[in-house]
Amino acid sequence: MMAPSPVLVALDVDTVEDALALADGLRGVVGGYKIGSRLFTSRGPTLVRQMVERGDRLFLDLKFHDIPNTVAGAVAAATRLGVWMVNVHASGGLDMMRAAKAAALEEAHKAPTAAPLVIAVTVLTSFDQPALADVGVTSAIADQVQRLAALAQKAGLDGVVASPHEIALIRGTCGPDFAIVTPGIRSAGDQKGDQKRTLPAGQALSAGASYLVVGRPIIGDANPRAAAERIDRECQAVLAQ
Ligand code: C5P
Repeated sequence: MMAPSPVLVALDVDTVEDALALADGLRGVVGGYKIGSRLFTSRGPTLVRQMVERGDRLFLDLKFHDIPNTVAGAVAAATRLGVWMVNVHASGGLDMMRAAKAAALEEAHKAPTAAPLVIAVTVLTSFDQPALADVGVTSAIADQVQRLAALAQKAGLDGVVASPHEIALIRGTCGPDFAIVTPGIRSAGDQKGDQKRTLPAGQALSAGASYLVVGRPIIGDANPRAAAERIDRECQAVLAQ
């Protein structure tokens, strides 16, 4: 029996037609799809509902960051849409994260449906040390990532998004039952694009990632399904160990 694929495909496209065509072509190979602010802002809840009705697992990557009451309302709305995973910024604080998790559980209980996993973004990978200092954070990036991951766990969240070079640190800090969702997946020979620190899928899983967010190596391939199958085979080999 093969494990469900840990690969979540980033649907970084602009149209519903492109998103649905990609999802239709990859169904059964990958573990789910990520819809970010670009697609959501143009196509929104209608597309999410369409995909959920087709049975797809959706990670709604909108990185909520607001006062606790507002974030709770947004997470409740995402829960009503039927998404499988949703995220918030850990820098929104303990109360905001607790409110997010409570809203997911309460809204799911009302439906009744499964509550989405609620995960946190720690430090955006676009930050370097000077940029972090500009916003008043003088800790080393790794320390800030560790602090925010521990805070997310304390708030009862299900995991964090982490770049390949942060996986081991977070696994060490938060233990085996905390989900780590990792973008920046590239095989040797892939175009890195704007990703600076990358790891091949198998190595990211070996390092402790739970899910891998993969965009261009799949959606930019001439044959997305074949590309996804290659990446999933690499994952299954590690998961079978
Ligand atoms: O195309 P690529 O595989 O680089 O896509 C990675 C996806 O993960 C994109 O949707 C990107 O926005 C997202 N992401 C990322 N790095 C982060 C957080 C999210 O690449 N630190």
